[in-house]
Amino acid sequence: MTNPSLLILAGDGIGPEVMTEVRKVIDWYGAKRDLAFDVSEDLVGGCAYDAHGTPLTDETMAKAQEADAVLLGAVGGPAYDNLDFSLKPERGLLRLRKEMDLYANLRPAQCFDALADFSSLKADVVGGLDIMIVRELTSGVYFGEPRGIHKEGNERVGVNTQRYTESEIARVARSAFELARKRDNKVCSMEKANVMESGVLWRDVVTEIHAAEYSDVELSHMYADAGAMQLTRWPKQFDVIVTDNLFGDLLSDLAAMLTGSLGMLPSASLGAPMANGRPKALYEPVHGSAPDITGQGKANPIACILSFAMALRYSFDQGEEATRLEQAVEAVLADGLRTADLIGEEGRAPVSTSEMGDAIIAKLDASV
Ligand code: IPM
Ligand code: MG
Repeated sequence: MTNPSLLILAGDGIGPEVMTEVRKVIDWYGAKRDLAFDVSEDLVGGCAYDAHGTPLTDETMAKAQEADAVLLGAVGGPAYDNLDFSLKPERGLLRLRKEMDLYANLRPAQCFDALADFSSLKADVVGGLDIMIVRELTSGVYFGEPRGIHKEGNERVGVNTQRYTESEIARVARSAFELARKRDNKVCSMEKANVMESGVLWRDVVTEIHAAEYSDVELSHMYADAGAMQLTRWPKQFDVIVTDNLFGDLLSDLAAMLTGSLGMLPSASLGAPMANGRPKALYEPVHGSAPDITGQGKANPIACILSFAMALRYSFDQGEEATRLEQAVEAVLADGLRTADLIGEEGRAPVSTSEMGDAIIAKLDASV
């Protein structure tokens, strides 16, 4: 049997540094758990633009379509701010999402006990928090046509279009209900049905899918603005939140920060099953390329390592091994190890990116 294939696109900024630590974890699974992967690497984002004049080449796109899973670091940086819109690093990521049709973006917001004090909210509000945002990722205002900037008389007009088809709403709703069944069996759907027709349709379709296929799951609806308020007031009222592309972008950053650090959170972007039964999949940390700390050994590799744990669970059916890795992360945090992003007042010196990776490997070693 051939090994499953992993395409690594480390990208820009701190992407390559955190991915170096993920490579240690991947190698550990090959050596110690008989779970070897065929790993290949390629470019996306600004580094791809530097090498090839485009943020994602057709060759890399084709490799991503073939891979059993794609692992992405981060894209973007100030050096690329003045590039034409179509050449910006982010376009590489958006092309991957669109062409692989990765419609369901899973963004867990989990508060590690050891880090409850890092949240800007009170520890009792966030302690034990474990919610999952399911963001629609391939449609809505990110991709809707018409779009652009044109002239009307003497002034410029910027246009984007929020557009959703029934089937686009239905498939992401199903992903959310399926996940809820494996969790606390609750879904809250968020839109702006009070002002947007696409929101009215969203609410209707989610309600229909629920009644027809998932009436065992508890469903509620909220306007997305009220949802943002409720997320900061009492986030533990939620289990799974399903929402569109743009609201999901905002609400997932908000939820991430509830947990204390953006540097901790992974994500999975999943599409339809491939011929081998695995979903098309891309895994990436929620944090960005962090150009301000690039190359200084300050980056927190945990979000990217936990993204690989999600790959073990959702692409490779290795839920127990995913849990092993998540527990290794919890154990280093419980020991008090902190990268620079997590250093509070106690004055304990931060560990470097690679020290954090090595400590997680040591916990994995201790687990077998
Ligand atoms: C995210 C990011 C992206 C988005 C950017 C980098 C295009 O903010 O993954 O949340 O807006 O989707
Ligand atoms: Mg975002």
